[in-house]
Amino acid sequence: MQGKVTVQDFVKLKGREKIVMVALYDYQTAKIANEVDIHGVLIGDSVIMNMYGFKSTHYATISDIARHVRAVANAEPRYLVVGDMPFMTYETSRRDALKNASKLIRAGADAVKVEGGSEIADKVEALVKAGIPVMGHIGLTPQRYLTLGGYRLMGKSVEIAEKIIEDAVALQDAGAFSIVIEFTVAEVAAEITRRLRIPTICIGSGPDCDGQILVINDIVGLSEIQPFFAKKYVDLRSVIRQALESYSREVREGKFPSEEHFRRMRKEEYEELRRRLQEKSMHS
Ligand code: KIV
Repeated sequence: MQGKVTVQDFVKLKGREKIVMVALYDYQTAKIANEVDIHGVLIGDSVIMNMYGFKSTHYATISDIARHVRAVANAEPRYLVVGDMPFMTYETSRRDALKNASKLIRAGADAVKVEGGSEIADKVEALVKAGIPVMGHIGLTPQRYLTLGGYRLMGKSVEIAEKIIEDAVALQDAGAFSIVIEFTVAEVAAEITRRLRIPTICIGSGPDCDGQILVINDIVGLSEIQPFFAKKYVDLRSVIRQALESYSREVREGKFPSEEHFRRMRKEEYEELRRRLQEKSMHS
């Protein structure tokens, strides 16, 4: 795609080409992603688990996400930048949603993502009316894992499947430009994709969505727990461990640093220095 991907470009991709998104969090990987054909990057609230070791996304704050959005924006991305709205930064009121979403937009996001369906449609509508593009997130919504009874596959029963489909339509009607469908049975994700005019982005919900999203830590093999639906394309964990082992061994064996890793004084300067130091020690 030529130039920077806008929300409008993103929506037009539906039915034309598969949409590729990745959740990442930092300047270095944001730069690398710029060299690849990627349509969108999500600065997910999963940052708080993957980069800070917290046990759930409940610990992410709006300042955490804004900081990481800024890091990604500093990479001058060609892809669409979506900032995730953390737990309790938008559910509480339209006013809170607007105040917090504006922090992510000011940090450099092109859009924000919110978890939930019809119950948050009024917040989505308020954000869109204020000029902030919104990506929805339905199916498994990790911010609600306590009420869902854990990180469970969604949509297996007819009742839950119907509710997820209704939520998707409610988000579209409220003005969302796209919807992430997480860990939901493939049939339901496919049905939603057929019904909506906006693109659906799957994670663990099968091949029939308009696009896919994976978390960078899973793609490169850095995650401690790899979800079965996330494909590991390289085992960076063992590459990093091997590099650290080699570094540790070489320092202990005196092999690092070697001549190419440091600089010496010119010989005459060094001799003069030694002469002066010797002279000083004779007079003290
Ligand atoms: O926070 C995140 O990384 C996400 C993706 C899993 C969609 O919400």
